Amino acid sequence: MGSGRSSITVRVPAKVNVQLAVGAARPDGFHDLANVFLAKDIPVAGGMAGGSADGAGALLACDALWNTGASRAELLAICAELGSDVPFSLVGGAALGTGRGERLTPLRVGGGFHWVFAMAERGLSTPAVFREFDRLADGRSIPEPVASADLLEALATGDADALAAAVSNDPQPAALSLFPELARTLEAGRTAGALTALVSGSGPTAAFLARDAQAAQQVAQELRSSGTCRSVRTAAGPVPGATTLTEAHDTDVPVGA
Ligand code: C5P
Repeated sequence: MGSGRSSITVRVPAKVNVQLAVGAARPDGFHDLANVFLAKDIPVAGGMAGGSADGAGALLACDALWNTGASRAELLAICAELGSDVPFSLVGGAALGTGRGERLTPLRVGGGFHWVFAMAERGLSTPAVFREFDRLADGRSIPEPVASADLLEALATGDADALAAAVSNDPQPAALSLFPELARTLEAGRTAGALTALVSGSGPTAAFLARDAQAAQQVAQELRSSGTCRSVRTAAGPVPGATTLTEAHDTDVPVGA
């Protein structure tokens, strides 16, 4: 009896880390991060917080279907338990992530940025990349991760050249060590005119910043014919986080009989 919702569709953006600074391994096995995200309106695929986006999307859908009345803060706390990148998938926009990446501070962004993403032929395990990061550190002391002032300034002013000069990704050498072919993908994007090329997060997706939408199309086209990746997408960001696309259908069951 009564009415219940039977289905709901949610849309969750993937993410790119324009800075991923990693500290030393913590006693709980995680690493402290200073992680600056720029959200992308592209489908979940190829290791760009795909699992995290699924987690945030499923949570948002359950919340809507079951009408839980949970506050935003409660949903974010559940997201943080599900995984380090899940809160950002819910929030979207641009944010600085600290702790293990789950503590978010929204960032002001002065304009849109144009990106090209090259998806790899195979995946890379995030824990394996962090383990390789520790192995390459070889006992050397690792500084506290801090957000780059130049990078935050570049985001705030919407300056693509300044952003290209400021991006960084501490786990990139670890990702390249486990996936050496990625170096050819990065090089192909640079040759095609990208302002900068970097591994997105722990990889293996490669991210390329372009000056404008037209330049992004050009880089994408050259990457597609380079034979160094499985598929290529362009995207502009930042975009909002997880959103409900369609209202759930009502499945009215006759009351009484
Ligand atoms: O939080 P999430 O489940 O996405 O993390 C996957 C794995 O990545 C962790 O089990 C850990 O090995 C590694 N990780 C880490 N430090 C972080 C985030 C993830 O070492 N800040």
